[in-house]
Amino acid sequence: MTDAHRHSAGAPPISQEWDLYTEEEHDRWRRLYRRQMEILPGRACSEFLEGLKKLDMSRGIPNFKNINKSLRATNWEVVGVEGLVEDKHFFELLSQRLFPSTCFIRREDQFDYIVEPDIFHDGFGHLPMLMNPVIADYMQAYGKGGLKVLDDPVKLKQLARLYWYTIEFGLVQTPDGLRIYGSGIVSSPSESVTSLELTGRLRVAFDLIRVMSTEYEIFHEQDIYFVISGIEHLIEVTMRDFAREHVYESVAERPIISAGGWVPCDRLYGPNPKRV
Ligand SMILES: [Fe+2]
Repeated sequence: MTDAHRHSAGAPPISQEWDLYTEEEHDRWRRLYRRQMEILPGRACSEFLEGLKKLDMSRGIPNFKNINKSLRATNWEVVGVEGLVEDKHFFELLSQRLFPSTCFIRREDQFDYIVEPDIFHDGFGHLPMLMNPVIADYMQAYGKGGLKVLDDPVKLKQLARLYWYTIEFGLVQTPDGLRIYGSGIVSSPSESVTSLELTGRLRVAFDLIRVMSTEYEIFHEQDIYFVISGIEHLIEVTMRDFAREHVYESVAERPIISAGGWVPCDRLYGPNPKRV
């Protein structure tokens, strides 16, 4: 399985069993939610904050049945899954506008950090952006693209980097400065700040070939983020036929760039000013 798709999980979809969550688990969700909401206004992009508001998830672990009524706006659905699974299933689900979400919530001793994705990462982190029509189409196109290259591990790896540096850890340029749209960032209290404000992190203008050539680290905060010029920027990426335009070959011709590596043609962004 490709690491970038780690939030995808077991086949076939499972029932969420929402009634079985305990009050303690709902309370944990509410505290995770509140903590992020103290940090994200002015840091997350407006598309995320608008989507979050529409999904109305502040009162406890969301019930997918209710969430799906809202996700009809972009013709998506969230489905419960468990455990980790191979790329094929993940791509199949996305290509059908089905988003796989884990159902379990992290334990109390994992409150600040959890290695594997839980429902807070998948639900809070991913679902709000699926309310955005551009992201909704981008995710489906990504799934369809993945299905075309299932038998090619090199191309799969290239695609996984694209997912990682957009859906999971993407930043977007706005008139007010850089903002977060990546789910891995918005669901992390520390990276929600460091991704934007820490000097020493690389923030590089998005370039498709550059992104697909760049390795990533999964066990600590990112050293590098790629900045799109607006959420609509992802339409340009989506509308390309990677195979016909020889995108994969162009990537393969270039050296692999290590996570956090800098190359001379990178256009760099400075950090956002520190907030007081
Ligand atoms: Fe994720």
